[in-house]
Amino acid sequence: PEDVESDLSRVLYSEAEIKDKLRELARQIEADYEGRDLLLIAVLKGAVMVMADLARELHRDVEIDFMAVSSYGASTHSSGVVRIVKDLDIDLAGRNVLIVEDIIDSGLTLDWLRHNLQSRNPASLEICALLRKPTAAKVDIDAKYLGFDIPNEFVVGYGLDYAERYRNLRSIGILAPHVYS
Ligand code: PRP
Ligand code: MN
Ligand code: MG
Repeated sequence: PEDVESDLSRVLYSEAEIKDKLRELARQIEADYEGRDLLLIAVLKGAVMVMADLARELHRDVEIDFMAVSSYGASTHSSGVVRIVKDLDIDLAGRNVLIVEDIIDSGLTLDWLRHNLQSRNPASLEICALLRKPTAAKVDIDAKYLGFDIPNEFVVGYGLDYAERYRNLRSIGILAPHVYS
């Protein structure tokens, strides 16, 4: 097997640091949603690790659901125009919805998603993102729960991919330039 760790120029967050941060966010979420139902929603595929670990850090009952989307044309990230490939199973009307994402890069994915989900009349709608690249923002995203602000570098691991690889790394790292250049 290939040594994927050598494809990273450096590790940004270790497995333990990610776990600590998700635990901290989980405590805030538990307090904020006390006595209310909570529905976690993630968009495949990048958010699966955050979803799985955040949901298990929450010491309360939650429901979870997933959407799958695909871009119109090659450059999702520059257009933000997406088509729903698999929609949610759960009706959002009157529900407290928390979107769970791995990263806010340009912000276009979450901008689209927030508007799409808001139109389904949830009781509340908030965003939890593990990572954010503040210097890459094309639209401003108000994430109530945010893990780490990171530099504008190509990051992979913990759900984040480069050409579908590296998603299963337990840490988050900066991809070494030799991999993509
Ligand atoms: C990545 C990431 C976020 C989005 C962030 O998803 O998981 O969903 O990009 O970028 P943005 O803020 O510029 O919109 P991607 O479209 O690569 O799909 P994936 O989750 O399947 O990797
Ligand atoms: Mn994604
Ligand atoms: Mg991706």
